[in-house]
Amino acid sequence: MSSIKRRQRIAVYSLVFIFSLSLLVPFSGLLLTDGAATAAEFTDNNPRADYWREVRQSNEGYTTAQGREAGVLINDGGQDWRRIRNGWVANFMPWLLLVVFSMLVLFHFLKGKKKVTKPLSGRKVLRWKAYERALHFSVAFLFIVLAITGLSLLFGRALLIPIVGKDAFAAYASLAKDVHNYLGPLFSVLLAVLIVLWMRHNIFKPEDWEWLKKWGGLFGDGAHPHAGRMNGGEKIWFWLISTVGVAACASGLIMDFTNFQQGRETMQIANIIHAVLSIGWIAVALGHIYIGTLGTEGALEGMTTGYVSEEWAEQHHDLWLEEMKQGGNESSSSSVAEEPVAEKN
Ligand code: HEM
Repeated sequence: MSSIKRRQRIAVYSLVFIFSLSLLVPFSGLLLTDGAATAAEFTDNNPRADYWREVRQSNEGYTTAQGREAGVLINDGGQDWRRIRNGWVANFMPWLLLVVFSMLVLFHFLKGKKKVTKPLSGRKVLRWKAYERALHFSVAFLFIVLAITGLSLLFGRALLIPIVGKDAFAAYASLAKDVHNYLGPLFSVLLAVLIVLWMRHNIFKPEDWEWLKKWGGLFGDGAHPHAGRMNGGEKIWFWLISTVGVAACASGLIMDFTNFQQGRETMQIANIIHAVLSIGWIAVALGHIYIGTLGTEGALEGMTTGYVSEEWAEQHHDLWLEEMKQGGNESSSSSVAEEPVAEKN
């Protein structure tokens, strides 16, 4: 045998040997561990599976990161939160708004605007001071912006993506989130000022129960029940703002200021409370906005110019007008205009 052929054969045998050895390498672990650890045991008791099971069950592990729940990789309750939020909150609540809106449209077509019945004399009464109007419309403007951005974040995906597409929605949603997060605290502060300033006008009095029992004269002969500066309906709106509205703001602030180290469960509960209360609030606000604009002749004029006609005041707030005529009292910030205003509405 020539030396070349011999060398070739050695090379082939060497390759086969090295290849066979490399196939055995993965099994070398058996030599380093207990030989009893068989393949069957490997499939039944995967150490990685145990690890992920622990993580999945929200068990706390070890981390050098500081902060509450930093060692909890996955929050199991997040699944429940996601189911509730994307389930009945996002699916049921929009219908509430649609139903209220449709009822207002129907009511307007059936009943129409509440007109001032007496002919206007031209005399006017100061009802809202400039700072009160500025405060009211700042709160109203912020409320509308927060309502639009908030609703967009809750069900904009379902409503807007089919219309504007994914990219445009993503850009808008990112902006809406920032606007909502930054204006929320400002709105909360202004709302708190409004509540403190107007609380004294909204203490319930016996005539308010009579007003409510007669539905503010909505049905029947249409005669207006007696009312002071604010009527029973307005007082309910005010106290709704002071309770439901404050809770909606508080739950929003819990989500806004995460630097207080609130846990993930607290944030999830705050999120659901915030969504439900805010949408309920928007539904009632639709009614307030309707009554203040299309529903009642002269109301919006009062909130924009500060003055209402004496006839409007007599029809809607007769006890308050009486007080004003007798020189006002300590609980009121308005007065009868010194000079009759020349132009009629
Ligand atoms: C564009 C939206 C709005 C319009 C057109 C509007 C209109 C009015 C009008 C005309 C009044 C005066 C009623 C009267 O003189 O008796 C009023 C009062 C009031 N509004 Fe609005 N409003 C709007 C939004 C809001 C919002 C969003 C809030 C609160 C979140 C709000 C809170 C109040 C309160 C607390 C009063 C006084 C009622 C009371 O103290 O009982 N308004 N609004």
